[in-house]
Amino acid sequence: MDTPSLVVLDRDHPGFRDPVYRARRDAIARLALAHRDGDPPPRVEYAEEEHSVWSVVWTNLAPIHDRYACSAWFDGDRRLRLSRTRVPQFIEVNAQLQPMTGFCLMPVAGLVTPGAFLRELGRGVFLSTQYMRHASAPLYTPEPDVVHELIGHAASLANADFALLNRRFGEVAMTLSDDAMQPLIRAYWYSLEFGVIRDAGALKVYGAGLLSSFGECGRFETSAELVPFDLDVMAETPFDPTDYQRRLFVAPSFEAMKHGVLAWLAKRAR
Ligand SMILES: [Fe+2]
Repeated sequence: MDTPSLVVLDRDHPGFRDPVYRARRDAIARLALAHRDGDPPPRVEYAEEEHSVWSVVWTNLAPIHDRYACSAWFDGDRRLRLSRTRVPQFIEVNAQLQPMTGFCLMPVAGLVTPGAFLRELGRGVFLSTQYMRHASAPLYTPEPDVVHELIGHAASLANADFALLNRRFGEVAMTLSDDAMQPLIRAYWYSLEFGVIRDAGALKVYGAGLLSSFGECGRFETSAELVPFDLDVMAETPFDPTDYQRRLFVAPSFEAMKHGVLAWLAKRAR
């Protein structure tokens, strides 16, 4: 009898028909499930093919970052200095990140509620996946993978402003029940995952989802409806995590976004 898969992939997932990839995903999920709070994150021995995917992603994202990434992300990226040729280990990223801003990455098998994810931010823990997207589509992933976590989030978290914003989201989440969490989840989504700002007249990106997506960051200017930054509207706007975002909220500057988010969060803490 076949052992049932731990990780369930949709039929249109690039790795759906690849038994080697599915076994790999299960093995990495098992590492996360075996992890205990307080222990360092497990090492994943990445295969050469996975390192190649990482390298291809960086090669393709770098020009997009040059055009679109906000200066706060570049600040974090310069501080963290992630390898662009080998997939970094969480334990090594944490050794650098923790002294900088107090944040660390901890593994998650993939199944975590948005409320649980946000609450962990309150204690400086960023729950992250460690698996790599399928090698047949290095510039696409239907779900957050290690590329998204490291290039989008970890690089951001080395910047003090990003760390503060993530921490405040978490601290407010800790005061809310799951039933009261939805506005916070949406505000996080449309800011720290998919936020856009203006900087010297140009559109710049600070959302980790965009910063780690070759396809979406390359076309959001023409494919998404760009509307003014308004956290009350963001908090009421549903989103589809499986598709390109139809609507993005543009703040007048990074500072305006930061102060807006902090003020909005301060009003929501119970
Ligand atoms: Fe994310």
